[in-house]
Amino acid sequence: RSRVVVLLSGTGSLCAALLAAADDPGYPAEVVAVGSDRAGAAGLAHARERGIDTFVQVLGEHPDRAAWDRALAEELTARRPDWVVSAGFMKLLGPAVLSAFPGRVLNTHPALLPAFPGAHAVRDALAAGVTTTGATVHLVDAGLDTGPVLAQRPVPVLPDDDEARLHERIKTVERELLVQTLGDLVVAGLPPTATTTTEESPR
Ligand code: GAR
Repeated sequence: RSRVVVLLSGTGSLCAALLAAADDPGYPAEVVAVGSDRAGAAGLAHARERGIDTFVQVLGEHPDRAAWDRALAEELTARRPDWVVSAGFMKLLGPAVLSAFPGRVLNTHPALLPAFPGAHAVRDALAAGVTTTGATVHLVDAGLDTGPVLAQRPVPVLPDDDEARLHERIKTVERELLVQTLGDLVVAGLPPTATTTTEESPR
């Protein structure tokens, strides 16, 4: 099975969905480690309880962002992942991580990208008054939620929605979308055009 390392910053319900899916030996990927930028992330505790290898690299404990990025790349490389999945990881990944795993880093986002990128996608969608938002799984490039989209699923905005309620409904869809998209991807492999990120490319 393909080796996957998950990065998260908080609750980790998306990661939990991957762990649950991978309990089925027929699922083509296994989660070999879970990493975070926050020692107290609930998702880390959940992974530890399940006996999964975990690691933490806190941005503020490094002299600068580049050093943190290199430390994260080293932690990841040590786990020899085929794929890295950013699932509720609330920091932008840097060039060290992205060049270590070209075209092999996925992110999941609670909006229909390119609409509402960034850390407040659900709030921004509500503020914009859209009637449909959703979830996106995409490949990560150097931008903020800008990489090639792999899969999307819509979620209607209901009249009485607040941010928490809408986000929960999106996450229900998002968990399924992530499990399915990652599964499809590791079986099918990537089209060559999606793997063109190299160390030489400008960032
Ligand atoms: C998910 O909706 C994920 O897409 C989002 O955080 C949530 C994490 O949920 N990520 C971002 O907004 C990144 N910009 P979880 O902690 O329950 O898995």
